[in-house]
Amino acid sequence: MNRIGKFVPKFIRRWAHRFLATELAREPPFRLLVKKVLSVVPVPMQMKSRWDACARPPYLFGLLHAAYQAIDKKVPAISAIEFGVADGEGLLILEEYASAVERETGVITKVYGFDTGKGYPELCGDYRDHPDMLNPGQYPMDEAALRQRLSSRTTLIIGDVAQSVPDFVRDSRHPPVGFIACDFATYSSTRDALQVLSLPGKRMLMKVPMCFGNIAGLGWHQFAGELLAIAELNAKNHNVKIDQWHGISSWRVFPEAPWLQSMYVAHDLEAISKAQ
Ligand SMILES: C[S@@+](CC[C@H](N)C(=O)[O-])C[C@H]1O[C@@H](n2cnc3c(N)ncnc32)[C@H](O)[C@@H]1O
Repeated sequence: MNRIGKFVPKFIRRWAHRFLATELAREPPFRLLVKKVLSVVPVPMQMKSRWDACARPPYLFGLLHAAYQAIDKKVPAISAIEFGVADGEGLLILEEYASAVERETGVITKVYGFDTGKGYPELCGDYRDHPDMLNPGQYPMDEAALRQRLSSRTTLIIGDVAQSVPDFVRDSRHPPVGFIACDFATYSSTRDALQVLSLPGKRMLMKVPMCFGNIAGLGWHQFAGELLAIAELNAKNHNVKIDQWHGISSWRVFPEAPWLQSMYVAHDLEAISKAQ
């Protein structure tokens, strides 16, 4: 397949390729212009990702890396999960990316969205669930309207993750987890969601790209919310550990992009120990 859309005349495609390969294209102010152009013209998802030329760069970057890993390990299908769906803006984007990445890589990608459907459940009762920023019932979903917009690729799982995640792991029909977007913000919901990586019978790639939506900003810290849930999983679990995605800014066109700080990786240490 052509790397730049086939409807663009050949000489322009050739020129565009040469230009994109130069240092000049990656210099300000050209990179902003290139990003704008790549966000509207039909180019491969890998190129869109490299230039942050998409609505949710962390979703696309994580998904692509899951697909590359699946190809490398000869895994035919993966699951991409969004924890915290609300009105479905993120889930619809994840679905769109999954479809494009599947088309380009051949890795079958099922999408799962977890939400109560009624907004936040009761908070845990202290600072750990950020009552300064979140309330029970906040972010309710119009479930019927969202279901109408989702394709058969995506499964919406309604219920509190304290229950729905153990059910999901027990029902082992889904492909191994390849990518997780976690947008719960509270400690207790994130803790319960992360069980998808630690419960007996869990199915995951050896390295699962993850993005966390609520770790950067004045109010977020390591003693509450998503960061506390990550630390707790790491302290209690010997087989799977979540760590920041080290060196992620290298080779990026926009190495200063804030979303890069939200990217983590869940490493399946047990599987890595057995790797050939
Ligand atoms: C910030 S919103 C998600 C926004 C969405 N990711 C987006 O990009 O548009 C957080 C969502 O998490 C859901 N949620 C919080 N705790 C939950 C739990 N324990 N189980 C299931 N859903 C939960 C809430 O219902 C809320 O809709």
